[in-house]
Amino acid sequence: MTKVIVSPSLLAADPMCFGDEIRSVEKAGADWHHVDVMDGHFVPNLTYGLPFVAALKKVATLPLDVHIMVSNPDVVALDYVKAGADRVTFHVEAAVHAHRLTQAIRSAGAKAGVALNPGTPVEAVLPLIEDVDSIMFMSVNPGYGGQQFIRQTVERIKRVSDSLRALSLDKSVLIEVDGGINAKTGAEVVAAGANVLVAGTFIFGASDRSQPIRQLQRLGS
Ligand code: DX5
Ligand code: ZN
Repeated sequence: MTKVIVSPSLLAADPMCFGDEIRSVEKAGADWHHVDVMDGHFVPNLTYGLPFVAALKKVATLPLDVHIMVSNPDVVALDYVKAGADRVTFHVEAAVHAHRLTQAIRSAGAKAGVALNPGTPVEAVLPLIEDVDSIMFMSVNPGYGGQQFIRQTVERIKRVSDSLRALSLDKSVLIEVDGGINAKTGAEVVAAGANVLVAGTFIFGASDRSQPIRQLQRLGS
């Protein structure tokens, strides 16, 4: 039986009420908080940065799963660890020295994740799989919430999941999926080997957040 970790994406929360939104998903049984840092350069959108993560750390009781969609992860990733990120996931397309970066994030005391865009060949992350705590498949092009799930992601997850199993890394490296996740697409990616589901619209769009969170968590049993 696989445990499915649910990480609600704050991108879909009401920015005028972040404190209440955070407490709401914590009360509803979420496992992590997913924090989308966008720099307006690697992705067209701009969200929040270090001061926000530091403020969030003061009130959150769940681990901060910080997804940095930035052009310069080698330069800024450790600052996010210092600000309070428990996990930092950077993009393989943007990192200059990816192994050095995963090692630095881990040495600083956080978990290191690598993300790949839907158009990036999965081979790009294979050299890193012995050096990361998680691999994040983007199932939409990053930058915005509420987009449609890209179906080819399922096949891509299977390929990497098989590689992890062949190397006996399937228990230690998590497979996270981000973009267009709901009960249906969540079931498909979990069947393919995913065990961390990021969901924005599906969770924050519900008046009772415990319903979608439980629905996704139950995919693991
Ligand atoms: C997209 C972000 C996602 C996004 C997911 O760039 O990384 O975390 O918030 O939102 P939904 O679940 O609405 O697709
Ligand atoms: Zn994200």
